[in-house]
Amino acid sequence: MQYTQMMTIAPTKLIRTWGSLDKVFIQNQVLQISGWTASINAGSLESFKVTCAGKELTEFEMALEIKSPDVVEVYPNLEYAQKARFRIRVPLGKEDPQEIRDCLIAVTPLFKEGWGGSLLRLVEPSLPIPSLEQGELLAWIGAGADEYFTITSIEFLGYFLHKANLLPTDSVLDIGCGMGRMAYSLAYYLAPTARYEGFDIMEELIEWAKTNISSRFPNFNFQQVDIYNQLYNPKGTLPAIEFVFPYDDESFDFAFLGSVFTHIPACEVRHYLEEIYRVLKRGGRCFCTVFIYNQESAKLIAQGKSSAELVYQIDDYFATSVDMPEYFTGFQEDLLMEWIRDRGFTVQGKYYGSWCGRSEHTSYQDILIIQKD
Ligand SMILES: C[S@@+](CC[C@H](N)C(=O)[O-])C[C@H]1O[C@@H](n2cnc3c(N)ncnc32)[C@H](O)[C@@H]1O
Repeated sequence: MQYTQMMTIAPTKLIRTWGSLDKVFIQNQVLQISGWTASINAGSLESFKVTCAGKELTEFEMALEIKSPDVVEVYPNLEYAQKARFRIRVPLGKEDPQEIRDCLIAVTPLFKEGWGGSLLRLVEPSLPIPSLEQGELLAWIGAGADEYFTITSIEFLGYFLHKANLLPTDSVLDIGCGMGRMAYSLAYYLAPTARYEGFDIMEELIEWAKTNISSRFPNFNFQQVDIYNQLYNPKGTLPAIEFVFPYDDESFDFAFLGSVFTHIPACEVRHYLEEIYRVLKRGGRCFCTVFIYNQESAKLIAQGKSSAELVYQIDDYFATSVDMPEYFTGFQEDLLMEWIRDRGFTVQGKYYGSWCGRSEHTSYQDILIIQKD
């Protein structure tokens, strides 16, 4: 394989790209990166910007246009999909390999027509991940053990950066943060001065996050709140619709709810939207995942193709079980949009997921990005 020195080019616009980093490791003082990336209408891939913990690594060699029949198979419509694979070698001069191992690597593809979304990866993170013994805890957050924890964390960090423009200096509120799956990658992205607050209703999950994340990253705070939820905290004493988030007005740039609106009824969603509006700064964004019930998902559910069978209508929401609605909840699209608009938000992004058996999708759950006007 032939490597060429990197070129300096200055693309001018952000374009939509696809891709991933498959392998990132250090061998003989060289950071080795391999992956693929391709786009629609962006021209050929010319070079990359490679950063480690936000610091640019300017000296590297790259091999482009490596054959990629596997990419063509999955993305036949992408331009240059047949030669989408690349390799990058970054000789580590003054850089300490140990530091590089424990930082977030971002590879931004530079196409002829603009730059693409950065591909992210942690090399060998020193933050512990929940082990197989913590399988029971992981089951509560719907996560597989070990590397699945980080894969999802990095997947969502990518959405935060590319779809919601999260900045390293932003203050972040993680509502229903579980054991800190998102905090995990955010710890490698946010500046040490940036504020992160996470709360959840399950004590064991919060304890894990405090012990493993706050101990290393003191700007990451976690707290448990004793809110009732039949599935997650059946002994909870506080109704969610009465809960006032323990933060000042207008104190966050960004709020995240990962699979929380998929486990609570509509009245709680409406109340949480009000609280989120209160604690977000003007222009602040809320990124949440949901199950959106619309014509398409209803049809797929009726055909038995959905992994969440939202077949029971309870008041103004849908659930997979009448006895335990918190198992999975979903909301009619036009109603949900109305609740969001009525509380002063505008919808900045809507990305449908594969949960109901949809073939074109972004993630598993539907994603909404809403902004405080
Ligand atoms: C599927 S887990 C997702 C956890 C975390 N967001 C993640 O992505 O790893 C759903 C979480 O929502 C929490 N939860 C349920 N009801 C809640 C409520 N009313 N307020 C805050 N968190 C809640 C649960 O305790 C659980 O940790």
